[in-house]
Amino acid sequence: MHDITAIAAANPGATRSPNFMKHQRWFPTIYDLRRGAARRLPHFAYEYGDGGAGDDTGIKHNWAALDAVELIPRYGVMPKLPPVGVELFGRRYSAPLGVAPMGSPIVVWPGADKLLARAAQRAKVPYTLGVAGGATIEEVAKIAPDVMWLQLYRFANNNHAIGFDLVRRADEAGVHVLMLTLDVPVRTVRSREVKVGLGGGGVFKPDWRMVAGMFKCPGWGVAMLSNNLPRFANIQPYAGPNAGLNDTICFARTEMGGAFSWDEVARYRDKWKRPMVVKGILHPADAEKAVAIGVDGILVSNHGGRQIEALPAPIDCVPAIVKAVGSRATVLMDSGVRSGTDVARALALGASAALAGKAFLWGLGALGADGPGHVIDLLIDELQSALGQIGALAPAEARNVVVRHPGALHF
Ligand code: GLV
Repeated sequence: MHDITAIAAANPGATRSPNFMKHQRWFPTIYDLRRGAARRLPHFAYEYGDGGAGDDTGIKHNWAALDAVELIPRYGVMPKLPPVGVELFGRRYSAPLGVAPMGSPIVVWPGADKLLARAAQRAKVPYTLGVAGGATIEEVAKIAPDVMWLQLYRFANNNHAIGFDLVRRADEAGVHVLMLTLDVPVRTVRSREVKVGLGGGGVFKPDWRMVAGMFKCPGWGVAMLSNNLPRFANIQPYAGPNAGLNDTICFARTEMGGAFSWDEVARYRDKWKRPMVVKGILHPADAEKAVAIGVDGILVSNHGGRQIEALPAPIDCVPAIVKAVGSRATVLMDSGVRSGTDVARALALGASAALAGKAFLWGLGALGADGPGHVIDLLIDELQSALGQIGALAPAEARNVVVRHPGALHF
């Protein structure tokens, strides 16, 4: 007789969300979720989440660069699926993967920030709330107290009054990691957003096509009705007590933006006593600068191909950055992660974890509230299989695997 309890305990599925089997039947991969999101979402919502800079060549480049990384297995060493738990910045997580910061996931799915936070807390993987997101720091800290990170853009007016107030709020709410975004020094055009009436530089004015799109997608409409209207929840209070969405958009345009200088990063470093990450680094010399300032982590990222299509794929920069910072900082990567196998690729090249963004938006689009949990389940299962397949006994061992990496950049 087999001991079913022991088998269940050893099985990664023990931590899966309750509807995993049901959803896996229709969405066995993140690629299937993307197709589902395209079918289910209002067109403008899909275009916002799925698109990138220019004509999306940066996104395709990120995917191709990840696909090109080959892991050469060693057999005869792996008796069972390996455990995938890790420690990041002094905290234990169930896997070296998590939710990347995203600008306005509520455009893709109403209430998205809270749904993402809930799924991450349940699975015990990092969740990064974007400061321009649709839920407040305080709300999310209640939902995801063990796994919450906060991404910050630059609010430099009045000697960083808003920026430092956000840092104070994050500290009081118990946010574990503060992430400063360096990779948006300027605003750039995303043609797919412009074409559906979003992000063209003006205020939000729904046109008839947008409204028709909402009515065509009942699940989205119901989610919209059961959530408040979209808002920049963290920025709104600074825009004034009665600020509506468009007042907040105008306010954010004047208050938020520009590149953090290294001196400014150092000032935030002084204020923030918990782990701090800089996001958007692609050059090892910038990683060195961050480490010299005392930053704890480097997120190698090209903003998911959403800023400009001429940037290198982050996966191709990871080895040089890992080499530059050595054990002085934790290296993470995002941009293009669509599977647990991609996470394994990042680990094999020396990253400590990989974050996914679009994958979660596709999950929301295809499955609504159940989507984020399903994405985490798929990523964890696939990572476990990938590590098992290549003969890595734990995430940290992936870096001992031989890798063929044709796109690796040598600076
Ligand atoms: C914001 O960070 C976005 O890429 O939409």
